[in-house]
Amino acid sequence: MSEATGSVWKKLADLPKPTLAQLFAEDPARLDKLATRFDLGEQGIRFDWSKTHLDDAHIAAFEQLAQVAGFDEHRRALFAGEIVNPTEGRAAEHTAQRGVGKDESVALAHGYHSRMAAVVEAIHQGAMGDVRHLIHIGIGGSALGPALAVSALARDGAMVDVHVVSNIDGTALEAAFDACDPATTMLAIASKTFTTTETMVNAASAIEWLQENGVTDPYGRVVALTASPEKAVEWGVDETRILPFSESVGGRYSLWSSIGFPVAMALGWPDFAELLEGAATIDRHFRDADGAANLPLRAAFADQYYTRLRGCQTRGVFAYDERLALLPDYLQQLEMESNGKSVKADGSPVDGPTAPITWGGVGTDAQHAVFQLLHQGTNLVPVDFIAAIVPGHDLDPAHHRILLSNCFAQGAALMAGKPSDDPARAYPGDRPSATILLDEVSPASFGALIAFHEHRTFANAVLMGINPFDQFGVELGKEIAKQIEKGGTTFDPSTEALLELAGIA
Ligand code: F6P
Repeated sequence: MSEATGSVWKKLADLPKPTLAQLFAEDPARLDKLATRFDLGEQGIRFDWSKTHLDDAHIAAFEQLAQVAGFDEHRRALFAGEIVNPTEGRAAEHTAQRGVGKDESVALAHGYHSRMAAVVEAIHQGAMGDVRHLIHIGIGGSALGPALAVSALARDGAMVDVHVVSNIDGTALEAAFDACDPATTMLAIASKTFTTTETMVNAASAIEWLQENGVTDPYGRVVALTASPEKAVEWGVDETRILPFSESVGGRYSLWSSIGFPVAMALGWPDFAELLEGAATIDRHFRDADGAANLPLRAAFADQYYTRLRGCQTRGVFAYDERLALLPDYLQQLEMESNGKSVKADGSPVDGPTAPITWGGVGTDAQHAVFQLLHQGTNLVPVDFIAAIVPGHDLDPAHHRILLSNCFAQGAALMAGKPSDDPARAYPGDRPSATILLDEVSPASFGALIAFHEHRTFANAVLMGINPFDQFGVELGKEIAKQIEKGGTTFDPSTEALLELAGIA
């Protein structure tokens, strides 16, 4: 830790730690300071961080931390398309996909998008025959974003019925086959590298399924979404059906590139463009706002407070909206693959805990399963609640009223607690939460919500001095799996016994 950083952390550690109730009592302006509406044209999102322990003194110190950590310079480098991923010598240009970044990169992304829009339009117009189903095959960042976006935005009246398949477990692919008619199914093969085992094995099985079911030119039913177009050609996809994206777009940041193809297929291009614009609105805010007025940076201050000053090892994310049920899964990859590191960007060991474990679920279900621990357990878990004012259904409005009442009740209960003479019935309270309340779940608000989390992740990385854009930790397991496949390597006795039992040795 540099001397400057160390002295700010010392200052932070020494600050008094009032309870949430005290913070509200002592500062009548607290809500105005920490609950902010972010406008997206006619709609907006409320980011309420007032039920966290951030106060003026902590915010001032965290702003100082951002300064000594070189936040402004790192942020400038991100938007300028400079190398911000030093271990792989790459820029991270997801914002350029949304039109905010280096001019050349924005122009390149625009060109790719125009082509993608034309392909989407042509397929909708029948260029690939009658397409009613789309099986999207990819994994990690090549699947989680599309799966989340489709389930959030394309519930009613999707133009094409999309199934996202990622797992190598054939059960997943078989379920998609069962739900699709091969005569009207197309495949999207999504892989930045076009080498990922799960994706390539699933893609080959999907081709076989089409063939076995009477499709004479199964490769003619494939669109490839990749940063390695030459590999897709080698695999058998016609160049006219390859939608490329740039190497500088990271897998878990790639929803905005051609990886978003199934989203555009399900919603139509205008909605996909709105999603990009919603994200761009957050990009401009993140690029231009300073200090705690910058919403992703403010959230990162709270994240750092809980992991580093209060020892929280996890962060809970609860979507009080079925449409966003996959959000915790998506954020797990975004946050844990980005910031779950033990060394800093310069290779030196980190000087404190890095990403907490992101976990969560959907409300109200989670209340009846895991909230016991949040209220009375010995772990302090900062929680984010995400909800929308407009419901995603046409049933009796009571459903949504009760849903939102429960969401807000949980935040209130965590903070207020409740004393009791009976220790088993006492709630300690003073437990933090943040609430993100969307006016509605629309393409624009969804894009903004995801971009907010991308920038929050980046801001956390800068405050910790780590590189959020590589993921070498995933490689060793892949290598060993390949050695097992190949045979001839001896492993530890436990692994050997398991292999023998499963008949793999
Ligand atoms: O194994 C991790 C990972 O590299 C992720 O970062 C990535 O999103 C995923 O695999 C899929 O990679 P690809 O898009 O190259 O198939």
